[in-house]
Amino acid sequence: AFLGAFVFNTPVFAAKPLVIGFSQVGAESEWRTANTVSIKDAAKKDGITLKFADAQQKQENQVKAIRSFIAQRVDVIAFSPVVESGWDTVLREAKAAKIPVILTDRAVNVSDPSLFATFIGSDFVEEGRRAGRWLLERAKKTPDTVINIVELQGTVGSAPALDRKKGFEEVIAGNPKLKVIRSQTGDFTRAKGKEVMEAFLKAEGKKINVLYAHNDDMAIGAIQAIEEAGMKPGKDIVVISIDGVKGAFEAMIAGKLNVTVECSPLLGPQLMQLARDVVANKPVPKRVVTQEGVFPAEVAAKEFPNRKY
Ligand code: AHR
Repeated sequence: AFLGAFVFNTPVFAAKPLVIGFSQVGAESEWRTANTVSIKDAAKKDGITLKFADAQQKQENQVKAIRSFIAQRVDVIAFSPVVESGWDTVLREAKAAKIPVILTDRAVNVSDPSLFATFIGSDFVEEGRRAGRWLLERAKKTPDTVINIVELQGTVGSAPALDRKKGFEEVIAGNPKLKVIRSQTGDFTRAKGKEVMEAFLKAEGKKINVLYAHNDDMAIGAIQAIEEAGMKPGKDIVVISIDGVKGAFEAMIAGKLNVTVECSPLLGPQLMQLARDVVANKPVPKRVVTQEGVFPAEVAAKEFPNRKY
């Protein structure tokens, strides 16, 4: 009977492919699109069955998707939470069903850390600090001038919006000449970034010296608004953003964006490895931080051919 389980040395009862249920934030930015491609490609390459759900930037859609993954009894649930809070109940349901949860990209704010196995993604506070340090350095050239900053925040209540704001503020507090005069959400999209920048320009006009955008897409939208207002982005208004997508490199090469702080969306291969390890009961680090750099406009042309997203 044992021999009957083999055909030409190949086990007939091959291991079942791992099934991951993944709830994605949406398709709000160039970064997000690259993140989705990375996750789908890595699953395919590793022979993992991926059940993919797009939440269209709504927490209630993510909660529904997670409940449906529990009902389908997937092996692992992974998700990138739209916002930080409000996850305790659904994650307790996953725990009760004994389905491990992996957070990717964004953190959750839960009272019980055992509700998720591990969290892989960037250090968003550090990204905000990196943006702030770049500006602090540049401001050294004009020590007596007040620098008025407008800020385009990411999605309200999301980890990257909260953390990037915090990190940036922490660093610029070191120079009292740096002042944030307006700060509003642009929901991480180009359209909203443009719309809010138009309102900033209407209200503050030529007083604005610097734009700090929590992602490249909002910066790219805002660049359009600056041009339509008859000003030169990158010169009249210094533009700082986060992600490092190809669109940002193109804007830097065109002289319209001054710096982008890298945030890597290429999380797919590491996510698949973590999922395999968690299911195999291997120890995994509670936090896996992505390694990233800072790209000022001066290096954009040289770096562009190396960019993967
Ligand atoms: O959570 C990562 C952020 O979400 C990226 O910076 C942004 O572009 C995306 O929409």
